[in-house]
Amino acid sequence: MLSVVLTAVLPLAAQRESQVRLQPGQAGPVIPKEIYGQFAEHLGTCIYGGLWVGENSAIPNTAGYRNDVLQALKDLKVPVLRWPGGCFADEYHWMDGIGPRENRPRMVNNNWGGTVEDNSFGTHEFLNLCELLGCEPYVSMNVGSGTVQETAQWVEYMTAADGPMARLRKQNGREEPWKVKYIGVGNESWGCGGNMRAEYYADLYRRYQTYCRSYNGNRLFKIASGSGEYDLDWTETLMKQAADRMDGLSLHYYTVAGWSGSKGSATEFTDEDFYWTMGKCLDIENCIREHSAIMDRYDPKKRVALIVDEWGTWWDEEPGTVRGHLYQQNTMRDAFVAALSLNVFHKYTDRIKMANIAQVVNVLQSMILTKDDKMVLTPSYYVFQMYNVHQNATFLPVDVWCETRRVRAAMGKDGEQRTLPMLGATASRAQDGTVHISLANVDLKNADEVTVDLGGLDVKSVNGRILTAADISDRNTFEQPDAVKPADFKDARLHRGKLVVRMPPISIVTLELK
Ligand code: AHR
Repeated sequence: MLSVVLTAVLPLAAQRESQVRLQPGQAGPVIPKEIYGQFAEHLGTCIYGGLWVGENSAIPNTAGYRNDVLQALKDLKVPVLRWPGGCFADEYHWMDGIGPRENRPRMVNNNWGGTVEDNSFGTHEFLNLCELLGCEPYVSMNVGSGTVQETAQWVEYMTAADGPMARLRKQNGREEPWKVKYIGVGNESWGCGGNMRAEYYADLYRRYQTYCRSYNGNRLFKIASGSGEYDLDWTETLMKQAADRMDGLSLHYYTVAGWSGSKGSATEFTDEDFYWTMGKCLDIENCIREHSAIMDRYDPKKRVALIVDEWGTWWDEEPGTVRGHLYQQNTMRDAFVAALSLNVFHKYTDRIKMANIAQVVNVLQSMILTKDDKMVLTPSYYVFQMYNVHQNATFLPVDVWCETRRVRAAMGKDGEQRTLPMLGATASRAQDGTVHISLANVDLKNADEVTVDLGGLDVKSVNGRILTAADISDRNTFEQPDAVKPADFKDARLHRGKLVVRMPPISIVTLELK
């Protein structure tokens, strides 16, 4: 047997064995690149200091956008960027953020620490950033405290070729309309976006979206504010009352210990905390299934997309940072949440067409952290980078046989448990025929010898990259920015038509098969 052959050549470290079966003949849908979307809110230092420093800053910048962050995001191939919130969106009045910056009114960011917002980053700054990054903008409209007129005019300002708002845009220096595909009609309308009942919001949604016009062939993709986690009634009501008027319905799911009290430290946690986190993160699959089942009843042809436009880890703020700014460090634990969540999204792209991790810089599970002129890329950034190859590739199902572990349940009552697989896997075929497999060994102590049955695929060469660390709390800091970063991976080899991969503990690997 293959495993017998291999144990002879591998060191005798504590090691498990897992099997993966690739099913190249059962190709699924294309994984939309928008699954790899990002989110930027006016919150803490996400915008100011993170993305934007202004043209007069001593920090090297291009038209006000910091160069280091800009380059890192270009390298990441960000497909879509959501803005301006979040909760902030439902208190944002877009006209405050256009015209000469010195004339823009200041406001208080009531949701996020009472910080003064000077509106120097507004519609032009956001949409020009998207053009620089080559990504689709996703703009969240203010339904909670805005008006229908304000919403309608914003769409006109951004996308119309002529008319009063288009003329105002031209006066402000932008001749051509921007291309804006995605608009969100409200955010968390059951909570910070207005504390509405589903029935009331469904009617408001119908009304607001009516006046969001598609100008000059710019077809809008309209996304209704959806449920937080398991609010299935919300989804039911929205689908029943407004499905025919929406292109997408959102879902927010955070890997968080709870909404009251401490959420736990981002950097100091036990092994049990880590395994609990993996279970909570994987519970998103169940959440997606339950919402999808409701959507299937009202929309069996799956015309309406499920848009997971907020997801990721949520820990206590770093000690010493501003309360309400949601600045948290990012360790290998977060990297696993990124990998396992993306694996789940890949499986459900018949319904999920976009996902936006919260958030891109300096907030929650960010890709990038900045401090003055310094920048670090987080372990989560590197997962997104290693997984980039799955963007717009055809999903290939995989079966996994691996050891499991009983962990505290994510949603269950105290004492309830769930089964956590110790190996995560996903695969896809790129347009040029290259097959990519990503594997995640969540075991903190044991290596895993993974045998991949290639399902008859004729593979001549294997290359790989690995993200690993000695300790699950390892992270990049401003003092040690390269503590965790991907490296070439050499421990995968072809053997009698199968692929044998030796994964160290705490490791995430992406393999390229040609
Ligand atoms: O991402 C932080 C906040 O989480 C968002 O503003 C809100 O939509 C959610 O509650």
